Amino acid sequence: MIVGIDLGTATCLAAAWKDGRPRLIPNALGDVLTPSYVGIEDDGSVAIGRPAFERWATHPHLTSRPLQGRFDEVPPLRDGDRELGRDELIALILRSLCADAHAFLGAPVTAVVIAVPCALTDPERRAVLHAGKLAGVRVLRLLNASTAVALHYAQPRADTNSRFLVMDFGSGGVNVAAVDTFDGIVEVKACAGDRSASGDAVTRLLAGHLLDEAHASAELRADDAFMRRLMLRAEVVKRELSAGRDVTLPVIPRSSDTVHVGVKTFEALLTPWLALLWRPAERVMRDARLRAADLNAVIISGGTSQLPQVRAFAEQLFGRPPVEGVPAMEAVAAGAAMLAGMIAGDVGLSRFALTDVCAYTLGSIEDTSGGTYSPAIERNTVIPASHTRRMLPSPPDRQTLTLDLYQGESRRREDNVPVTSVRLPFADGEGTDIRFSYDANGLVSMERAEGRQWIPLAGEGLSDLHSAERRVALDAWTVPARHAVPHRMLLTEAGRALAELPQPTRARLARAMLLLGDALAARDRAASAQHAATLREMLAANPRRDAPATT
Ligand SMILES: Nc1ncnc2c1ncn2[C@@H]1O[C@H](COP(=O)(O)OP(=O)(O)OP(=O)(O)O)[C@@H](O)[C@H]1O
Ligand SMILES: [Mg+2]
Repeated sequence: MIVGIDLGTATCLAAAWKDGRPRLIPNALGDVLTPSYVGIEDDGSVAIGRPAFERWATHPHLTSRPLQGRFDEVPPLRDGDRELGRDELIALILRSLCADAHAFLGAPVTAVVIAVPCALTDPERRAVLHAGKLAGVRVLRLLNASTAVALHYAQPRADTNSRFLVMDFGSGGVNVAAVDTFDGIVEVKACAGDRSASGDAVTRLLAGHLLDEAHASAELRADDAFMRRLMLRAEVVKRELSAGRDVTLPVIPRSSDTVHVGVKTFEALLTPWLALLWRPAERVMRDARLRAADLNAVIISGGTSQLPQVRAFAEQLFGRPPVEGVPAMEAVAAGAAMLAGMIAGDVGLSRFALTDVCAYTLGSIEDTSGGTYSPAIERNTVIPASHTRRMLPSPPDRQTLTLDLYQGESRRREDNVPVTSVRLPFADGEGTDIRFSYDANGLVSMERAEGRQWIPLAGEGLSDLHSAERRVALDAWTVPARHAVPHRMLLTEAGRALAELPQPTRARLARAMLLLGDALAARDRAASAQHAATLREMLAANPRRDAPATT
């Protein structure tokens, strides 16, 4: 079975194309949304998804969000002398989603299609592919989240030719695509990703506002554990405000003072953030040579599209309300599942075809060019794409040329993303042809002509041997069995409730936790189920005062 995966900054979701529609796959806890978190538990085992999310505030050094921000800034997680690097962390998420799919579909996952944020650069896309390798799963295709939404929207409307704009507002940024559909062909005309207009940025704005209003000290602002807890509170506050409800809450620990945030204040806070949304939308429209009047529909998706201010902004920008009924959290995974179905040859999807474009211009700076960036493939070129350039030695006796490859739109080297650097040999003063390429995944490669052959210069990724070693190291980590995940989750919840409870309830709860922990360690399923039931009853009888945050 080929499964579609929405690999999101905050949440992941897997779906399979079955019986003519996308089926969302629940995880071991029965949720279709899996938080994109990985952690190391106290016993050295690995936690993935919600169990890891629940420890994010209390165990900052043992919890990671490997898809947040720029990939090259993701620190590894360490447990003694063992560590989980970024690719391993992403691999654990992928493996967990595939295990969920196997359990739900009753058949092993043979390959996946992964939807990623548009803004992912070549090194980041390569990291996702490498993570797939470490996870032992074949990645057939990477596609942009906005392309996935376009597929999902186009599928039931195969008979309608249409021109529409997709804006997917996630946690890590916004993904935009201008799309034409005719006779089942889904043609992306232009796309753009922007990480500054993110849902996380809204949460940070709110957290900052709460700190200012509560007159928080510099010391408190520098307290990592406090700041993580505050971000979780701000997340909950954001959703309340998003639903149109004012919020009053205490901010400073052990202080009875509260901060009130009204919807009007929130709207004022959002104004500069909303202005950031305009830039990628406007660029995509310009690149696709479209005016608002040319569009038949505007589609918004992603968790952040649930902010009424985002919907209003999109309506104001394009002079029409966004289409109703697009599932905010599920559209990307549903589109990825559809592409998985198309690749698998599902007959119901046989009339569909997809063409996509690259999100970044690909270019090079040669060591002889005085730092001039020469674009080879412009952004929004249909992929796969290649461009061949003849390189001549200058002066003629020059032996080598160094080429730095970049993705980006700026004339300034430092504003673009370095992809790789290669040394090109010249034989006897002869020139040579260089071929720059984007493949269908948006991955870059570079080759040099030798006779009638093309010799790869870059973009080959890691050797299989190196990946094999890392896979062995990854396999040495203990990952709890799926059936044990709800029990472990229960232990985490009980652990948090423990501190709040008076004696002797506290001692009783601690004993029940111990029993469940021992049963899990002994892999005794019957005893685990029994102790878990006791623990669940105790927790229900002693509800926590502060409800846990959700992602
Ligand atoms: N009701 C809501 N109102 C406002 N924002 C919300 C709501 N529900 C979720 N969000 C926000 O949506 C974001 C998560 O959305 P989503 O799962 O689409 O992101 P993602 O796919 O993980 O990120 P990305 O697509 O950028 O990689 C978070 O920033 C979350 O705070
Ligand atoms: Mg997303």
